[in-house]
Amino acid sequence: MKQKMVAAVDVGTSKVCSLLANVDAEGSIQIVGIGIVPSQGIHKGLVADIDQASESIRQSVRKAEQTSGESITSVYLGISASNISSQCSRATVSVGRNARTVQQGDVQRALKVAREIDLSDERRLLHVIPTQYTLDTQIGVQDPKGMHAFRMDLDTHIVTIPQSSAENITKCAHKAGISIEGLVLQCLASAQAVLHPDETDAGVVLADIGAGTTGISAYKNGNLLLTAVLPVGGHQITRDLSVGLGIPVELAEQLKKEHCNLAEKEDPDAKEEPSVQINFDGVGRIYKKDINDIIRARMDEIMKLIISQLVQQMQSQSYLSYVSEFPAGLVLTGGTANLGGLRFIAQDISGLPTRIGAPTGLSGIADRLHDAAYSSSVGILLCSGKSWRHEQSWAREGRLRDKVVERVKSVGQFAPWAKR
Ligand SMILES: Nc1ncnc2c1ncn2[C@@H]1O[C@H](COP(=O)(O)OP(=O)(O)OP(=O)(O)O)[C@@H](O)[C@H]1O
Ligand SMILES: [Mg+2]
Repeated sequence: MKQKMVAAVDVGTSKVCSLLANVDAEGSIQIVGIGIVPSQGIHKGLVADIDQASESIRQSVRKAEQTSGESITSVYLGISASNISSQCSRATVSVGRNARTVQQGDVQRALKVAREIDLSDERRLLHVIPTQYTLDTQIGVQDPKGMHAFRMDLDTHIVTIPQSSAENITKCAHKAGISIEGLVLQCLASAQAVLHPDETDAGVVLADIGAGTTGISAYKNGNLLLTAVLPVGGHQITRDLSVGLGIPVELAEQLKKEHCNLAEKEDPDAKEEPSVQINFDGVGRIYKKDINDIIRARMDEIMKLIISQLVQQMQSQSYLSYVSEFPAGLVLTGGTANLGGLRFIAQDISGLPTRIGAPTGLSGIADRLHDAAYSSSVGILLCSGKSWRHEQSWAREGRLRDKVVERVKSVGQFAPWAKR
């Protein structure tokens, strides 16, 4: 089967992960290059410091180049910007005058109309995703090509991003010396990596709980219903532990990963057993119950925020009436999905059957990627076939100028005469 080489750079709040892979049309992935570095200069999925963020991207890409022996110039970039917004939109076109049979050109024309929505100057299109077609009065058509109709309505799910955030992230990539093939919202990428078509057909919710953000996407009848990014994630849990237990952030992060067990029911006697003993500025004792109580409180809040997005979207009359809309349940992914026992409290709070989703079936140098933290990174590779280029032409504007400037600067570093 024909393969193509794809480069993905997943810019998260805690890490930048660059992957170079051979991807075929069936979606099988062979990883040939990997570069994971802690991210700097990203706050809640948004660029907070261009120099630091672009340096993290540069280092991550360089590592992927070193492991693969290939050079990377152009990438699909994954972002988790917490200030995106999404809406549904409908575009209507008439079908070719003579044959009245829907052709590829009619579909393209409908998509073009869909992209021409009225946006204020301060926002950019990120994704225009076709959800369903209506031919005359027949709704729910998935592929209209070849069908007879007089008019065609195309429903789309539109995601926009503030212009400043869009420009800052593209600037970071260009400053790191790479061009952008396309931008992908992380929670849409994760969905590609971990959801099964049966789940998206039946109705499913995906939550990618990362370090600074929680990305949500929901599907029904194979269509995307909802995308949202909440500015909360694992960093808040670590900070709660640090403040609540009076310990340094590094230790809080370690305790969170090693000792959390949300599956344990509250046990009034648990406090009698010291679970962890630490020496920090003297002797301190930390109880497992305290760790779990603090984490449970924050996760309870994050879960309720996820649910409120679903309630809002489905315009549910009662708090739990959305449950019947998503029989395939809730799929949790992102690094924070690794919290011990998270599945159990997520299920309790949401009322949805819950599983943890992580990438599977990868070949090549992929051992580290079979972890929920890398669902979006792998998913970006799978999004490379999507035709999102048109709405993102802004991401390619100015790249040549920026690259030339960066190249001249880097020459200048080694050849002082070039600066004069
Ligand atoms: N075993 C674990 N238990 C609990 N939390 C974990 C575990 N492993 C990783 N995490 C948490 O996952 C978070 C990182 O997740 P991820 O890599 O998905 O975030 P990101 O993509 O960098 O950030 P974002 O998507 O929010 O911009 C961190 O807060 C980290 O503490
Ligand atoms: Mg992420």
